[in-house]
Amino acid sequence: MLHLLSILSFVAAASASFSSNLNYRSPSHNHPGLGLAIHKIQKRNDPATAFTPDQLNFTHGVASGDPYPRSVILWTRIAPTSDNDRSNVTVSGYVPLYNHDTEQYVKASTAPVCVEYSVATDEALSNVVDSGTAYTSSDIDYTVKVEAVHLRPYTAYYYQFRVCKSNNTSPLGRTKTTPRPSDHVTNVSLAVYSCSNYPFGFFNAYGNTVRKDSVDYVVHLGDYIYEYAEGYYGWGYSLGRVSLPNKEIYSLYDYRKRHATYRTDLDLVASHQNFAWIPVWDDHEIADNTYRDGSAELNNTEDSFVRDGGVSVDQRKMNAVRAYFEWMPIRQVDMDDNLRIWRSFSIGSLFDLIMLDTRGYDRSITDLYWNTDYIHAISNDAGRTLMGGRQENWFYNELSRSAERGAAWRIIGSQIIFSRMNLSAALGNENPFNYDQWDGYLANRNRTFAHLYENNIGNNIMLAGDSHASWVSDLVWLGDKPYNASTGEGSIGVEFAGTAVSSPSPAGQNITIARANNGSATIVRANDELQWQDLYYRGYYELHISQEAVEAQYFGIPTTRTRNSLEISLANFTVRSGENRLARPVAGGVVESGFLKGGRVVQTNVTYDTEGMA
Ligand SMILES: *[C@@H]1O[C@H](CO)[C@@H](O)[C@H](O)[C@H]1NC(C)=O
Ligand SMILES: *[C@@H]1O[C@H](CO)[C@@H](O)[C@H](O)[C@H]1NC(C)=O
Ligand SMILES: *[C@@H]1O[C@H](CO)[C@@H](O)[C@H](O)[C@H]1NC(C)=O
Ligand SMILES: *[C@@H]1O[C@H](CO)[C@@H](O)[C@H](O)[C@H]1NC(C)=O
Ligand SMILES: *[C@@H]1O[C@H](CO)[C@@H](O)[C@H](O)[C@H]1NC(C)=O
Ligand SMILES: *[C@@H]1O[C@H](CO)[C@@H](O)[C@H](O)[C@H]1NC(C)=O
Ligand SMILES: *[C@@H]1O[C@H](CO)[C@@H](O)[C@H](O)[C@H]1NC(C)=O
Ligand SMILES: *[C@@H]1O[C@H](CO)[C@@H](O)[C@H](O)[C@H]1NC(C)=O
Ligand SMILES: *[C@@H]1O[C@H](CO)[C@@H](O)[C@H](O)[C@H]1NC(C)=O
Ligand SMILES: *[C@@H]1O[C@H](CO)[C@@H](O)[C@H](O)[C@H]1NC(C)=O
Ligand SMILES: *[C@@H]1O[C@H](CO)[C@@H](O)[C@H](O)[C@H]1NC(C)=O
Ligand SMILES: *[C@@H]1O[C@H](CO)[C@@H](O)[C@H](O)[C@H]1NC(C)=O
Repeated sequence: MLHLLSILSFVAAASASFSSNLNYRSPSHNHPGLGLAIHKIQKRNDPATAFTPDQLNFTHGVASGDPYPRSVILWTRIAPTSDNDRSNVTVSGYVPLYNHDTEQYVKASTAPVCVEYSVATDEALSNVVDSGTAYTSSDIDYTVKVEAVHLRPYTAYYYQFRVCKSNNTSPLGRTKTTPRPSDHVTNVSLAVYSCSNYPFGFFNAYGNTVRKDSVDYVVHLGDYIYEYAEGYYGWGYSLGRVSLPNKEIYSLYDYRKRHATYRTDLDLVASHQNFAWIPVWDDHEIADNTYRDGSAELNNTEDSFVRDGGVSVDQRKMNAVRAYFEWMPIRQVDMDDNLRIWRSFSIGSLFDLIMLDTRGYDRSITDLYWNTDYIHAISNDAGRTLMGGRQENWFYNELSRSAERGAAWRIIGSQIIFSRMNLSAALGNENPFNYDQWDGYLANRNRTFAHLYENNIGNNIMLAGDSHASWVSDLVWLGDKPYNASTGEGSIGVEFAGTAVSSPSPAGQNITIARANNGSATIVRANDELQWQDLYYRGYYELHISQEAVEAQYFGIPTTRTRNSLEISLANFTVRSGENRLARPVAGGVVESGFLKGGRVVQTNVTYDTEGMA
């Protein structure tokens, strides 16, 4: 009897450890029939086939994200192979595994791997505040995602994983919880990134904020990976950065392998190791110009599926989304809806960060290159939406809730540019807008403006990525509200859209600075509310948020062809609380690059070396 009891309690404990790895939960937590059968995986937990600690490696460092006041998500990967799982685990307990050294398939165990983790207030991990055990296995690509709990608000923590009962440990990670919604906080800083294309260059931008230790959290607005085939896009061969598998990606294995390849960039590894991330996907985490029912290279037709090897639109999206949740250190807001990534964070009394999904969730048809005229024609259709009704309602309610609770600012992470951008003078064509941005969904933009105006909601800061260039605008409902471009009067906030970590300039991958700045001048002159634009530099921006003002600092990366720690300060902007527009003179009247409305461009080329700046 005693014996039986101890077996039962062991099973219960092991079961708890399985479900503590959040990657096992979806969608199986509420619907065991639909997802991974945890009880079957537990049955493979057989000491006879178990890996020994020296057969396992922490292959991709550690990561943390989606910070809350009392908890944060911790991530690692502990695997018997540097390759990714092909998801064809056999019941016999062994799976064929490719050995790159012998170039042969070998029989590898399918036994789950046990890891312990601890979270402490100090780097030596002596003051442990939370710890636990979790299992992982090939079924989830050997990823581990746990929620560290019992934490204090707005506090830095250190954490580490180890293979159970061994000295095989992961690198030491650092993370930070957020303040409680009611906490008065004087200032918080964010680094904002988008569009990191591995074959196009080194991710120096990610490393610079680590070296400067200049921010509290990292926000990523998407295009964290690209789905393209190497030969189609990029300089991978000459830089030694070939993104595997070396083809356009469709299957679950493909997406896992692509994430795994990107996560070898040392500056990306360092950023994940040092900062809590709050990311959302854009289109390329799935495929170029993704919308609800397809993408540029995948129509919702049998013809199209046959061409790509038999993967349908929905299957491809599920593969991409599953690999994303396995690899990114974030919460899955709704376990029953793994397409839902839109979510929000209340950062003390200072701001609410509202992260949208304008892409994969429920977007009406977008510009797929062969239908541009059609999308132009329907762009003002009242029924079009970027987000779908469910998300739109949530979005407007979040804006109201934030204003009602008295948060000083509302910061909205959108993938794509919100402001109207007439590119006719630059492109000279009959479809002068980028219909894949909010410009293709005028009704959705109008509903957003209407909600802000009708409810008198101010201090709104829109963030955007996707475009591979920098755009800073007053937030104006052109055609509906009067606007004075020299004073900013009539604006209801500010939009900060950022350039790419490494993806090439939309003006051409080898554009000269003179031609790029000339292009910026043309675009800025053609758009009243657009105050600064830069086409030349790769980089990122930092937001320093206080009760009194939001300061945005834009940084340019001189070259992504080598791994280096250099950057150039491009432009600084201030938005004072209550003013709802860029402070004048915009950017202090002088920027380093691009074109500034009513200001000057002075090319000083002053490069800062971020090495040793912390
Ligand atoms: C684990 O890492 C060591 C040291 O880098 C390496 O020699 C070994 O091949 C790796 N093992 C696996 C299974 O990746
Ligand atoms: C399982 O994976 C192995 C190794 O990748 C592969 O050779 C084999 O064809 C796969 N089997 C199935 C049924 O997919
Ligand atoms: C871990 O390392 C310590 C110190 O070297 C050693 O005493 C201990 O036996 C090791 N533990 C295991 C499980 O290998
Ligand atoms: C920012 O907040 C920190 C505490 O989190 C405080 O030490 C620092 O003085 C503040 N800086 C400014 C400029 O208010
Ligand atoms: C999708 O359909 C359009 C219109 O028929 C066609 O021009 C395009 O080539 C198709 N694309 C793919 C990838 O099947
Ligand atoms: C876009 O700008 C051009 C001039 O550059 C102008 O002729 C055209 O009317 C504008 N289009 C819209 C829709 O505002
Ligand atoms: C959106 O607002 C603009 C400016 O007032 C207007 O021209 C346009 O017709 C509106 N479109 C919709 C669908 O509401
Ligand atoms: C914008 O405001 C300035 C300063 O008040 C004023 O001189 C100018 O006439 C205004 N411009 C327009 C187009 O109303
Ligand atoms: C840009 O330059 C690189 C390196 O010199 C070259 O490989 C590439 O083809 C060029 N791209 C274009 C679009 O000219
Ligand atoms: C600058 O841009 C204008 C308008 O697009 C164009 O006509 C002109 O040729 C460009 N000049 C240079 C030097 O690129
Ligand atoms: C932006 O501000 C920083 C520090 O406040 C300063 O060092 C830098 O020169 C400024 N950049 C520009 C382009 O004015
Ligand atoms: C540096 O500034 C000079 C003008 O002073 C300009 O010709 C050059 O293109 C700039 N280079 C970069 C990389 O910004």
